[in-house]
This record gives sequence, C-alpha cells and structure tokens, in this order.
Amino acid sequence: MWVRMRFGIGWRDLAAALAYCAVPSSRAKARAAAVNAWTDQEDCLILLSVRSAFDLLLQELALEPGDEVLLSAWTVPDMIRIVEAHGLVPVPVDVDHRGHLCMDSLSRSMTSRAQLLVVAHLFGGRTPLDNVVPLLKKHGVMLVEDCAQSFDHVGDAGHPDSDVVMHSFGPIKTATALGGAVVRVASGSLRNGMESRAAKAPVQTRFKFSLRVLRFSILKLLSGKRAASVLFGLLSRFGVDVDAKVNSLGRGFIGRDILKQIRLQPSAPLLKLMTRRFKEFDFGRIEHRKRLGEIFDRELGFDERPADDSRWICPLFVPDKQATCDRLRAAGFDATCRSRMVVVPAVDEREAIIAGENWDRVVFLPWYPDLNESEVRRMARAVRPR
Ligand SMILES: Cc1ncc(COP(=O)(O)O)c(C=O)c1O
Repeated sequence: MWVRMRFGIGWRDLAAALAYCAVPSSRAKARAAAVNAWTDQEDCLILLSVRSAFDLLLQELALEPGDEVLLSAWTVPDMIRIVEAHGLVPVPVDVDHRGHLCMDSLSRSMTSRAQLLVVAHLFGGRTPLDNVVPLLKKHGVMLVEDCAQSFDHVGDAGHPDSDVVMHSFGPIKTATALGGAVVRVASGSLRNGMESRAAKAPVQTRFKFSLRVLRFSILKLLSGKRAASVLFGLLSRFGVDVDAKVNSLGRGFIGRDILKQIRLQPSAPLLKLMTRRFKEFDFGRIEHRKRLGEIFDRELGFDERPADDSRWICPLFVPDKQATCDRLRAAGFDATCRSRMVVVPAVDEREAIIAGENWDRVVFLPWYPDLNESEVRRMARAVRPR
C-alpha cells in the first residue's frame, strides 16, 4: 500500500535531531545560523510555525475588532481560528481548481474594513500576484503570502511587493524540520515589533522537541509500504476508522488550545535541524516530484502546469470521488476524500462558490518523491480505467 503521506525526512536527519536534543547549546547562535543558512538579508524571523507567525503579526498590527482579513478560500482551519481569536472577520476569496485567486471574488471582497489579504500558494503551485498587487495598493490592504505548501528553494523571498512571506517546515512539508517557519517581514518596524514580542514567549523545551522527533520517527517507520499494509489491516479489523485516524496522525499541534501551543519560541535543536535541512536538502526530490506530475497529467490528458508548480500534493477533482478512492485503494494507493484544509465560510453575500463546489469532489492521492514513474502510470490508470 502506498500510504497517503510520507514524512520527507531521512533517518540521518532524525538521528541528528536527537543528538541536538541531547547536547545543550546556545539558542541565539542556532537562530543566527538558521537565518544565515536561509538568507544574507536582515529581513527574516525564524519562528515556531506559520501559525505562530500569523498570530504574532495580528497581535502586532492590533487591528480594530470587526476588521476583515481576506483569506484564500482553501486554507487550514487554524488560520481561520487565529483571525477569529483576534476579533477579526475571516472573508473568503474564491480560488480555482489550482488554488489560484479569482480576481472577481477579490474585487468583491475589498470593503473599507479589509486590512490584509493572506494568499495561500496551494498544493505546491503559486498563485499569480501581478494583478493582485495594484488592487491591494489601491485599497491600502497588506499582502501576506502563505508559502506553507510551496517551498522549493532556500532563500525564497516571495513577491517583491509582499509585506509578509511565510514558509513552513512543519512535519508534512517539503524539507521538513518537524516544525519551524521562516518569515520575511518587509517593514523594519513591524519586524522589530514582532521579534521583541516573540522573544517574550516561553521556549519550546529540548525534551518536548525530542518527543516530537520520536513520534515522527515511529510514524515514518509505519509509513513504509509493507508496514502500512499490515497496520491498515489491523486497524480495520479492530473497527478503527483508518481514513480519519491516518489524517490526524501527522498533525503538528495536537489539542484544543491552539494559541497556547503556537505561542512558543523554537528550541535550539529545532533551529539546528532547520539549518541542516536548508544546507543539505536534496532538491532533486522536488524535480523528481515535478516529473512524476507531468507523467500523471499526460496520462490523464490534463493541461500543462506552470513550470514553478512544485507539486507538493496532488488533488484530483472527479464527479465520483468515493468510487475513485475505492478503485485507487483496491490498486494499492491510499487515496482519501478527507483533507486538513477547509473552505473558508461565507460572509454576507461573499461566498467561495468555485472552491466550495470543487471541494465536494476532491480526492487526494498519495504523492511524494518515493513514488516512481511506473507506479504513477498505474495510479493514473486506476483513476480512469480504460
Ligand atoms: C496553507 C497553509 N497555511 C498554514 C499552515 C500552517 O503551517 P504551520 O504548521 O507552520 O503552522 C499550513 C499547514 O499545512 C498550510 O497548509
């Protein structure tokens, strides 16, 4: 069984992470090394997660209650919760099947209460921003890029006109460090404010990070082809809803009080693991993933994608999603109709219609560089048998 997700981190990285946890070291030095491994500019912060960065940004901006934050209509639920926790209103901006913003919807969302737009670059692709920037400038709305799903090179500064650009290295991300985020903040005063606010938060303990490394080591062990088949068989026998269980396993933060969990500073071992990943990650894995994507699209006669689409995940929009999932499972591919993302709920008449309709017919395929070309062709045949 090709399980739906595999963690993109090697055993040597995990062993190194445990060694970092065992030996005390300076966090200030580890943070400086992580920043230097990413950029030679002085405009980046290293934080615990993208959610921490977004929460910090909203704390620092201190907007008026009832102000609006425009969000790409597909995002993770915590991004919506964070907006609400600050007394603000999350407003959906519709997206097409690639996750690109629909300009009509964006124009409709531009009320006098709109303060910032958070563009999520989804599934490994990039939403074009050149038309978005002038509209935001006209209305005095900040541009925040959420690159949690689109990392493809170290030092990515995002669009030159962005106010904030956030990259995540959480457990299921490309080049994961099992946590951490790099955040470029264009305004020096905003960045300094965020940095001093972040410095007041408690620090993630080395012990806590070591437990995280152990947890994901076990999950990595279980996500191998044979181990996954045995585990899935066992769980189903005991009546466990395997689909739901597997989806919840890779979560970076577990528990209800999300703000408490994200308001922490990254530990020295996490910072060191980030540095290691920035320096040693094999970017050939992304190229391989892109090649697999091209083969898959060709097999199914899909349109060509932009060259900068790094294919982090592979959503498929089909009329018969459950039947498609069943066919894929029978062929040994653990596809799922469940996602960790949601459609941002409507506000007044501002509704994400296209995103909503597509979400009702989405299937997520197992998708990682460990797949090979013949298996990807076989997966395409299972999607649409001839
Ligand atoms: C679009 C998007 N935004 C934000 C996040 C949260 O990132 P982090 O885990 O670094 O908080 C994710 C995580 O998957 C995501 O997909």
